[in-house]
Amino acid sequence: MAQKGLSLDDGSSRNVAFFSTRPYEKQVFTELLNVRNETLTSPIEATFFEHPLNPSTALSCEGFSDVVVFVNDDVSEATIKALSQNNVSHVALRCAGYNNVDVDAAAEMGISVSRVPAYSPETVAEHTLALILTLNRKTHKAYNRVREGNFNLQGLMGFTLHEKNVGVIGTGKIGKAVIRILLGFGCNVLCFDPTQDSSVICMGAQYVSLDELLSKSVIVTLHCPLNEHSQHIINADSIAKMPDGVMLINTSRGGLLDDAAVIKGLKSKKIGYLGLDVYERESELFFSDHSQEIIQDDVFQRLTTFPNVLITGHQGFFTQEALHEIGEITLDNIMYGGNRL
Ligand code: NAI
Repeated sequence: MAQKGLSLDDGSSRNVAFFSTRPYEKQVFTELLNVRNETLTSPIEATFFEHPLNPSTALSCEGFSDVVVFVNDDVSEATIKALSQNNVSHVALRCAGYNNVDVDAAAEMGISVSRVPAYSPETVAEHTLALILTLNRKTHKAYNRVREGNFNLQGLMGFTLHEKNVGVIGTGKIGKAVIRILLGFGCNVLCFDPTQDSSVICMGAQYVSLDELLSKSVIVTLHCPLNEHSQHIINADSIAKMPDGVMLINTSRGGLLDDAAVIKGLKSKKIGYLGLDVYERESELFFSDHSQEIIQDDVFQRLTTFPNVLITGHQGFFTQEALHEIGEITLDNIMYGGNRL
């Protein structure tokens, strides 16, 4: 919500370009802007592009003060240079993660970068549980069987979550929301985070080393950001430490997994279930319809062939409430300069 005591209405005008915009986002931002513009002397002008921001589309940003981007827009040094040449002063991420932004280059060229650090962490946490429960109880398969008049239960057996060890890597906002839900299921929650949070212990979860978490958890779920320390945190070595048949869930960022090692783990049955909402090279696939094309990414295609793999296309954030919150905070960031990196 708008911050009290601050006002943009100083006559300065903002001309904002939204990139990678889908119809549902355009609708939310248009509605929110209409409300805000009613009270501003200089309304915020918005232009919505479906195409992503990248070094070439950044060249056509002349006249825009701000650009609004999403998880797979390319905000590399080359893009930032082009934005700077066009006098764009601010990149507003309408998401939490900022691994796609060269923050140093932006600082060097005097372009501010903001993000939406928190918006309903429960939204992503609930999707995480949707993946866990679907993979476990195979409701996606049961749906098809029952529609075809097949009531055979063979192959649909799950396991009871109650009292199982679940490992949560990353106990920030989303990790904590996941922990709360898992504790409600009666799970024993083992956590790893370089920065421990006493509220996690108060909730009833316990911090352990990463190795202990990996070796004791029947489900491992990732809620840490992607950075140079966490890239491929799940690799051949870490998979080897997990119990046979482990369930691995990633709703954070694709680069946390070494996909080749994960595929080996699936083939050897070390990994018994895999739930993904993100994928390392998702920018070439996600958020668009490729159903009439031949998908060229063989790793992705291989992943989809396993019967125990469930992939959603980065929809963890996708609820009405979260979109609304993302919209409000992004506009606040543009208007009042908050949440700068
Ligand atoms: P947060 O910043 O509140 O928490 C991240 C936690 O990870 C922090 O406690 C941090 O200390 C910890 N951490 C950092 N490096 C780590 C490491 N190497 N190992 C273990 N823990 C580590 O972030 P939040 O809001 O909980 O988001 C987590 C991630 O979820 C984001 O970085 C983003 O990539 C992803 N995300 C995915 C969405 C989706 O739609 N699927 C939507 C929103 C966020």
